[in-house]
Amino acid sequence: MPSLTNKKILLGVTGGIAAYKSAVLLRALQSAGADVRVVMTQAAQAFVTPLTFQALSGHAVYTELLDPTQEAAMDHISLARWADLVLVAPATADFMARAASGHANDLLTTICLATASPIALAPAMNQQMWFNQATQDNLRRLTQRGYYCWGPDEGAQACGETGPGRMIEPEMLLQQVETFFCPGELDGVNILMTAGSTREPIDPVRFVGNRSSGKMGFALAASLHDLGAAVTLISGPVSLSNPIGILCSRVETADEMRSVVLEHVENSDIFIGVAAVADYRPRKYTGEKIKKNNEIQTLELVRNPDILAEVAAREKPPFTVGFAAETEQVEHYAEEKRRIKGLDMIAANQVGMDEGGFESDSNALVLLWQDGREVLPMMTKTQLAQQLAGRIAERYHART
Ligand code: C5P
Repeated sequence: MPSLTNKKILLGVTGGIAAYKSAVLLRALQSAGADVRVVMTQAAQAFVTPLTFQALSGHAVYTELLDPTQEAAMDHISLARWADLVLVAPATADFMARAASGHANDLLTTICLATASPIALAPAMNQQMWFNQATQDNLRRLTQRGYYCWGPDEGAQACGETGPGRMIEPEMLLQQVETFFCPGELDGVNILMTAGSTREPIDPVRFVGNRSSGKMGFALAASLHDLGAAVTLISGPVSLSNPIGILCSRVETADEMRSVVLEHVENSDIFIGVAAVADYRPRKYTGEKIKKNNEIQTLELVRNPDILAEVAAREKPPFTVGFAAETEQVEHYAEEKRRIKGLDMIAANQVGMDEGGFESDSNALVLLWQDGREVLPMMTKTQLAQQLAGRIAERYHART
């Protein structure tokens, strides 16, 4: 049976250039078995005509709030009640602003107020508009009210700029909808994760650190949360804001990270070490800033505790997943690490190249487990996180 059989989806299309992709999305949703009705804002009709969606969906497209003929066919309250999910794709900055302010000044915003069903947004706009504090404030208000936000993606934009703001591709949106309707792959599962780098202080102004941005770990935490898991994320210093719905704890050093992990690990079903924990820390911390008096300055380093190995070596370890960032012989070293640390699974990636790895927005991974292997090719970290979360869920269930 197709994944979305009997699901009623109200597809809201607002006025962004990504509106043309919504026609493909409509087809994808229908192919998956969904019954789809389309509501378009006035601005959306400047990009794609209602006739396109009417021809594809086989149903009249709703555009007006105060049109007696449209209201007679299915009034706005009936539409709001009919939908199992309202999916606004693309969702423009203006639509988000109107929805966040509780406006009901066109059919789509009115339906959003009138529906008791979940509402998901697939934002699409220029990256500067996305980063604008007003948009971010609106997003926060909407997600706090329970709106789901799928995307945006990062990359080249229609306006010629590059950055976050692209609507996520129709096939990814379809996956989001499918996941949404069959949640719970990780329902009731407690996941403890580390992410980011650690900083090992040398003196009050200097530290030993690394290039990890935390992007992969934060994206993975969000994807695991989407699968229903209760996620606790322990992060080193990164410039990312806490993912919604996830219990976050910020630490600085490997020792602090270890203490917080050990506080939480007892109740965890899965432990995922994404953090690039500093392997060494300065033997001694100098209380005052070290002066540059010497031509050669020696820094003595001592090994940090291996948090992941310690968790995996517990008497009753959680399902344990590690990461391996390597510059050469990636798979060989990763498998060795998996075996020596006693991990259930390891995600290996090549670092030090132009594309992928630490500070990049995209990455590729090789997943290794006891008797299996899978390559997840180069894609954005958000997409990669979704796929990885699915594989972790699969392997976790296979073991338990
Ligand atoms: O041995 P290596 O540091 O390359 O292993 C990487 C994996 O081990 C990552 O999953 C990382 O989060 C974890 N790790 C750890 N504690 C350390 C070093 C690495 O948890 N001190």
